[in-house]
Amino acid sequence: MRMYDIIEKKKQGLELEKDEIYELIRLYTDGNIPDYQMSALLMAIYFNGMTKTETSNLTDAMATSGDTVDLSMFGDLSVDKHSTGGVGDKTTLIVTPIVAAAGGIVAKMSGRGLGHTGGTVDKLESFPGFRTSLSPEEFVSQVKKCHLAVIGQSANLAPADKKLYALRDVTATVNSIPLIASSIMSKKLAAGTHSIVLDVKAGSGAFMSTPEKASELAEAMVDIGKSRGRRTAALITNMDIPLGCAIGNALEVIEAIEVLKGKGPDDLREVCLALASVMIELSLGLSSVDAKAKAKEMLESGKAYEQFKTWIALQGGDPSYAEDTSKFGSSKHEHDVLSDREGYIRSCDAEAIGIAAMKLGAGRATKDDVIDHKAGILLFKKPGDRITAGDVIAKLYTDREYAIDEARDMVLGSLEFTDEPLPEAKMIYKTIR
Ligand code: URA
Repeated sequence: MRMYDIIEKKKQGLELEKDEIYELIRLYTDGNIPDYQMSALLMAIYFNGMTKTETSNLTDAMATSGDTVDLSMFGDLSVDKHSTGGVGDKTTLIVTPIVAAAGGIVAKMSGRGLGHTGGTVDKLESFPGFRTSLSPEEFVSQVKKCHLAVIGQSANLAPADKKLYALRDVTATVNSIPLIASSIMSKKLAAGTHSIVLDVKAGSGAFMSTPEKASELAEAMVDIGKSRGRRTAALITNMDIPLGCAIGNALEVIEAIEVLKGKGPDDLREVCLALASVMIELSLGLSSVDAKAKAKEMLESGKAYEQFKTWIALQGGDPSYAEDTSKFGSSKHEHDVLSDREGYIRSCDAEAIGIAAMKLGAGRATKDDVIDHKAGILLFKKPGDRITAGDVIAKLYTDREYAIDEARDMVLGSLEFTDEPLPEAKMIYKTIR
């Protein structure tokens, strides 16, 4: 195979053969195709797209380029969930124990946060002692014990994607539906679950800015999952505003615990129940109506909360933190953000709030930054709420006194006001099966 010919073929908008795709991914992963040629191919893909068959083959070639997890011992019951990333997205902490309590098997790999978005692994590490790195034997053994384990992504999972993503990042080719869909799905396929539920976020804090663009990506990913024999579904959810009130690791864990205890914000509970229902539907083979009822029952009966504590304890965390959340500790500085305006909040830039939380210590500007688990923001007001000057809009938590003024200005600057009342924001735009 000559890489030159492959580039030429894609430049002309022709379909690449299965063998060509597997070979080029193998050669690139092994360092036998130079970045300049792969960059040219990525740009040709960016402009000419890929057919469904090409995208499916590319995904599988990347998924099988490194370690793959074998969950076949769990039959049809294993189910994964993936979020395309957002601000205040702590759904995994709530959804996974609901599904596990219902009888699904959740053996999950999650990422760390970068930039304005958070990562589940960082959130879980708010529990002192929680182990996000388990050997493959420990991982499977824990899943057998409590139907649930969440660990960091194995270093050799889909290495072809890791290399390609880094190249896309510096060649202006990230933003292509077949490339994003294959990148995300390669890791999900390698992670081995029988069912996959995708939470594709749409809005100011998300990768895809509108529900239409998010749907396009979701459909591409659902097609890939199905073409590789996985039951796959996607929900398009609202990320124009942070999900729930808490942004920052321990603050988000505490909010998730509140939802599991039957309290917490309505928007967060709604999205979690919707995700959990579809996961239960796919993994247990229930009708959509029965799956919804099951998810609700697991949450309302407290069974999901008990499952959560068992899970945390088995992975080395102290479940008494869930009973007494003050154990997570408090920041040196707590600062109320007061409104300087009056009216109804029309919109709230979720990305700006995420960046403000990062500046307070809750996130990483670069991969090597160390995060402060206690830092973050509680956002008390959301679009649609009526505000008068002097109302407390948010509370900032940080050990970095120097970051407070900038973060406060960012939170205030993220809000737009109107004099007219607004209809309630829709949290779930669409489900794609
Ligand atoms: N997340 C991924 O894993 N890959 C992409 O291409 C974009 C977002």
